[in-house]
Amino acid sequence: MLAKIIAVLGCILPLIVGQLHPTEPATYRSLPSLREQAKILDEWKDVRIGNIPTLLDKYGVDGWLMSQREHAEDVIWWSIKNATDFDAHRRTIILFHNKRSEKLPNPIKWVDNTGSAWPELINTLETLQMQRIAINVDSDINFASGLHVGELNALQENIFESWDGQLVNVPMLGVEYVATRVDGMLEYYRDLQEIVWAMLEEGFSHNIVEPGVTMTVDLQWWFREKMQALNVTTWNQPRISVIVPESFPGWEGTDDVIQEGDLLHIDFGITAMGLNTDTQHMAYVLRTSEGEKDAPGGLREGVKKANRMQDIVLDYMRPGLTGNEVLTKSLERMKAENISGQIFCHPIGDWGHDAGAVIGFTNLPEHVPILGDLPMIPNTFYSIELYAYHFVPERNETLRFRLEENAHWSEEARRWRFVRGRQEKLHIIDQTKGHRDTARPPLIQIQ
Ligand SMILES: *[C@@H]1O[C@H](CO)[C@@H](O)[C@H](O)[C@H]1NC(C)=O
Ligand SMILES: *[C@@H]1O[C@H](CO)[C@@H](O)[C@H](O)[C@H]1NC(C)=O
Ligand SMILES: *[C@@H]1O[C@H](CO)[C@@H](O)[C@H](O)[C@H]1NC(C)=O
Ligand SMILES: *[C@@H]1O[C@H](CO)[C@@H](O)[C@H](O)[C@H]1NC(C)=O
Repeated sequence: MLAKIIAVLGCILPLIVGQLHPTEPATYRSLPSLREQAKILDEWKDVRIGNIPTLLDKYGVDGWLMSQREHAEDVIWWSIKNATDFDAHRRTIILFHNKRSEKLPNPIKWVDNTGSAWPELINTLETLQMQRIAINVDSDINFASGLHVGELNALQENIFESWDGQLVNVPMLGVEYVATRVDGMLEYYRDLQEIVWAMLEEGFSHNIVEPGVTMTVDLQWWFREKMQALNVTTWNQPRISVIVPESFPGWEGTDDVIQEGDLLHIDFGITAMGLNTDTQHMAYVLRTSEGEKDAPGGLREGVKKANRMQDIVLDYMRPGLTGNEVLTKSLERMKAENISGQIFCHPIGDWGHDAGAVIGFTNLPEHVPILGDLPMIPNTFYSIELYAYHFVPERNETLRFRLEENAHWSEEARRWRFVRGRQEKLHIIDQTKGHRDTARPPLIQIQ
């Protein structure tokens, strides 16, 4: 009997763990030194590039050609470059191939400003008997459209005529290459998520926010300065707002003095070690002058409703399904459970908005052409971004409860799971705990 219970728990627990609000406060994790990071990043890059021949076979091409100039790089450049490389130099031509030979580098690379690379390229294409070569010229998918038009012209002038091979557009090649995570990334992604949570727990506390004094913009800049101190950067200005019924995802932060009774919202991400995060949490400022000890029940229920939507989306996300299929199933399930709200999830990783299938868009709530029709790829990170409408009786208002949390593919569970749990409880700003610091910069005295 006991064995049976343990067996059942063994099946259920992996599904539950990672989906809850973390029980321990987050701590600021230190990242490795830059030198150590470069070593790690290059190891990841080597594994990723090592997978390219298999990807080329999968998509039926012999090669993948990129040509770019300094400051006008192909978007793929940022996912193949060495850690100590920055912008591409001069004209950098990159040719990936599927010839698995120790003697042949992969990619073959030319850095040129004299035109001498063209005959060598033609020669290489002929020697390797390349029949079909992918170039990044897609009209719709950004990760497959990085060949600048000037470089396309240069290719046409210099190789199209001399070489009668076939250049093809294979958008899923760039998408799958950029989207796919490799072993070792998750460990550091967990650290980044813990840094994010530590910032949220500190930023949305009495230590930083002084109701009646601190403004939402002050808090925004506190997050920016804190990133600087933590040796991380960002891909998006943090957006902090006081939530009202009209508040809509994607809007700029508001310019309010934070007051008791406010429901606050943040949308922000950090960047480090070639990885990006994207998180939305909510916070409540206790009316301590009225003896309030917790957020009103209606606000807490709103968060629960958004949590239920997260469960629904994660339940329907499956490799091979398109983003639109996941969206349709999720919306149907919400309807069956009488939940109204909107879903707009996206891949995340090398970029805050990474390559791959999106599940809804703020302006396309039910069907997203092209990007929504891509298949979901395993071994990717996803940002589960959505809001639930909830009527809050204490305020006589219907508000959007907007949450966003980052998930990773779990091979054991065969599903996506949150990297560091998810917000189930509002961050509480409680002035009775005193005040240590303020996000508001000191006033400058002008003599
Ligand atoms: C940030 O980097 C500096 C310089 O390497 C280091 O002294 C400091 O400890 C780092 N801060 C954190 C929070 O890791
Ligand atoms: C990375 O560095 C190695 C060693 O210097 C070089 O062979 C390779 O071409 C570089 N990769 C890229 C994409 O520039
Ligand atoms: C559905 O939700 C609405 C508002 O959220 C509520 O008024 C209605 O009673 C609910 N219906 C059911 C069947 O639960
Ligand atoms: C709640 O708001 C509605 C309008 O949004 C208003 O008609 C109604 O009187 C309000 N109820 C209370 C109790 O204030």
